[in-house]
Parts: sequence; structure tokens; C-alpha cells
Amino acid sequence: MKQILSKIKLLKVNEINKTLQELHAISNVSISDDDIVDISFTNLTKTQFNNLKREITKIVKLDLGHKGIKLTLKEEKETVEEENPLNSRKTKFIAIESGKGGVGKSTITANLALSFKRKGFKVGIIDCDIYGPTIPLLFDINDCELLMKEEKIIPYVKDSIQIVSAALLIPDNRPIMWRAPMLNKLLSTFFNDTLWNEDLDYIFIDMPPGTGDVSIDLKNFVKDAKVIIVTTNDIVASKIAVKAGLGAIELGHEILGVIENMSYIYNNEKINPFNLKKFSIEKELNTVILGSIPFFIGSGLIEDKRKVFYDILGDHILERLN
Ligand SMILES: Nc1ncnc2c1ncn2[C@@H]1O[C@H](COP(=O)(O)OP(=O)(O)O)[C@@H](O)[C@H]1O
Ligand SMILES: [Mg+2]
Repeated sequence: MKQILSKIKLLKVNEINKTLQELHAISNVSISDDDIVDISFTNLTKTQFNNLKREITKIVKLDLGHKGIKLTLKEEKETVEEENPLNSRKTKFIAIESGKGGVGKSTITANLALSFKRKGFKVGIIDCDIYGPTIPLLFDINDCELLMKEEKIIPYVKDSIQIVSAALLIPDNRPIMWRAPMLNKLLSTFFNDTLWNEDLDYIFIDMPPGTGDVSIDLKNFVKDAKVIIVTTNDIVASKIAVKAGLGAIELGHEILGVIENMSYIYNNEKINPFNLKKFSIEKELNTVILGSIPFFIGSGLIEDKRKVFYDILGDHILERLN
């Protein structure tokens, strides 16, 4: 029995690139008196289960020489993963979250996407801040024009980065006042009905502040987004950021770390603009500080000399991802 378990637990569910062990998918193994191996599974979708049957049968009957096999899927997993092609690809998702608005999520999302592109990755951005979308503004996209093909959205491409945003659907300066079901529909379209490049390495998700509907919905669209929490290092933003982080953990997302934005002004020496006693957000969330971005004075929040900061930050993020 041990032999069977040790072999099949390492089998990979190709659709999501995880082993049966990682998914806690094997619920019971038994062998009857007449050498029939009975294995039951849980936590798998029907397709995932069906795709594994042949290989498991081969291991049990051919490799290990048992007489017969019976495979059962006890509890079928109901997820959107099968409908959502993004989940079955190699694409990794990085969600940029915060407790409070205005701490720099969108600026950081845009710059990290550009930094990852410079490192040679293929990158996309989903602007999930439906009520306050700013990604197109940061990329200097002025026309609202997401085109459709066969009822799917074609992402806007700027600087080789695929981008979707509510700001590219709604004419400029018109406020967006949608209720939750419509918001959910739009997010679902961004994740499920958008023609993302097959070979994207990373999709950065610019989240709205706090732990509202979008954060809850995110889990339905992507199974394992890694979360980066952005905060300024003042006590109010940090304490609310802890709440957002705990919310993300509760929803089952892994926190990659914290970025402290506008953390100092450089004028011959580092000056903390908030000048408050430091609150250890990383300790509260049991994570690390991925890096600190200074307060940049003047225009041009994208690229220029500042890219060196984001390239270093990008390296730290990649280290944590591997
Ligand atoms: N490191 C920085 N230095 C100076 N200004 C910044 C910095 N990061 C962000 N900002 C500015 O702060 C404001 C809020 O940033 P934004 O990225 O829109 O935050 P959020 O998406 O969290 O609401 C913007 O005006 C932005 O230009
Ligand atoms: Mg924003």
C-alpha cells in the first residue's frame, strides 16, 4: 500500500502543475483480499481525474503487478479553473494590494510590469480597480479602445505589455457606478474572456484598495495569485495594510512580501516623510519587506532613472517566486 501511495502521490495534475500530494487529492487507498486496489480521490475536477486514470492504472497494474484497480472520485471539485484557460497555463499572477488608496499600487504595478519586461518576460496587466482605473493613464493611453473578436476582448498592447482596464471601455471622465454583479461580470470578462497571449509569463493585477468584492472575487478567477502588499510607512496605512494582508491570507493567497512606497526623500540624507515610529508590518504578516521605493519628486513616475529601483525590486520578487 505504501508503495502505491509513494508512487501516485507524486503524479502531476498537468492542468494546474501540482502533484496529487500538494492537492491533498488522495483520500483513501485499500487492497482487497483478491488483490484489487481501490483508490478514492477528492479535490479534483472530473477532467483532471479522468486524465490521470490511465497513468495510475499503469502504475498499479503494470509497474506494481496488482490484479485489478478501482478508481473513484468521491468529491468532485467545483472550480472555474477548467473554464478559465489562464489557470491551465504557465502564467503566474501577481496581485498588488493595499489597505488604503493612494499608496502607489498602480504606479508600482506599471513599473514592475515594465521591469519584468526588461528582464525578458512576457507580461500582462489586469487593471482590477474598476472604479478608479489608472493603468491606461500611467501608460499614456488616451483613447478608449479595447476591441473585440468573437465576443472576446483583445487586450491593448503598449510597450509590448498586454493591458485590460475599465478605463479602456468607458469614455473618458465618465464615472463608473456599477453594482457588484456588473463588477463581477467585467472582472470575469478580463480573466476568462480575454485573448491573452498563450505564453505570458506574468500577469500583474492592479487591485482596488481594501478587502472588498474584488479581493473576494479574485480567488474565483485565479487559483493561486501571489500577493504583494503596498504601503507607505506611516502607521495608518500600515495598520490597514495588515488587515488587507490578513484578508488575502484568509482567502488562500500567498503573500510574497511588502513594498514600502514613498518611504523616504533623498536630500543628501534619507528623510522619512512620515516621521512616525516604524510599525513592523512584515512581522504582523509573517512576511518580508521586498524593498523600499523613495518619494520621487517631479514628473515621470514611469521608467527613467527610477527604473533601477524597480529592477532591484523585481529581482527580489523573482527570488521569492522561485
Ligand atoms: N514613489 C513615489 N514618489 C512620488 N509619488 C508617488 C510615488 N508612488 C506613487 N506616487 C504618486 O502617488 C499618487 C498615488 O499613486 P497610485 O499609484 O495611483 O496609488 P494607488 O494605486 O495605490 O491608489 C499618484 O499621484 C502617484 O503619482
Ligand atoms: Mg490605483
